[in-house]
Amino acid sequence: MIGIIGAMEEEVSEIKDCLEPSTLSISEKAGMVFYSGTLLGQEVTVVRSGVGKVNSALCSQVLIDDFYVKALINTGIAGSLDRDIDIGDIVISKDVIHHDMDASIFGDPKGWVPRMDTLSFPADEELIKTAETASDIIGIRSFIGRVATGDQFVASKATKERIVSEFGAICTEMEGAGIGQAAYINRVPYVIIRAISDKADDSANMDYAEFESHAIANSVKLICKMMELI
Ligand code: ADE
Repeated sequence: MIGIIGAMEEEVSEIKDCLEPSTLSISEKAGMVFYSGTLLGQEVTVVRSGVGKVNSALCSQVLIDDFYVKALINTGIAGSLDRDIDIGDIVISKDVIHHDMDASIFGDPKGWVPRMDTLSFPADEELIKTAETASDIIGIRSFIGRVATGDQFVASKATKERIVSEFGAICTEMEGAGIGQAAYINRVPYVIIRAISDKADDSANMDYAEFESHAIANSVKLICKMMELI
């Protein structure tokens, strides 16, 4: 069983619609609705976690405990932090960090969750390779790199520059680190797949409105191709 998490309904509805109807079962927990069934030959559970790291971590733990998932995949959209990564392009996580975790007053590097043994949560090598192959097949440009997660929509040049200089991340979003941290603690492989909807700068809210659905479509295409390859 593979768990597929998207924050918003728009990010998962098309994937849910592709589940083989005769295999579909639906259950509810922690205010989330879990759709289990066969997607292009793979047993999956698809769920909308809600926005932000608390929701995505809760959702990951339910998938691990109740659905016994062997891997977690996060699908959705993100703001680009790299001038070469454009709207519609895909980012595949190499690792993920919390860009808004800051206990540096105690000597921890920024982003470090106090008392944990790692700064970032590495994504699974096999899942990264599968995502890269899938993007080659469907013909959408992809970039592998660090994802920076925070409980904020980044829409200013100053915040964008801070995240790039502190963490060297290539995109920013609001759920990945909740999933990466839950996966790390539970020793479950994971990967984040994000299509770019905006540049996380002063034009971000306008770009987001215009390009959200195009970006979501690209992320969904990639997830479906991955299911055929896994
Ligand atoms: N998701 C899509 N664009 C984003 C941005 N600029 N900041 C945070 N999450 C996002």
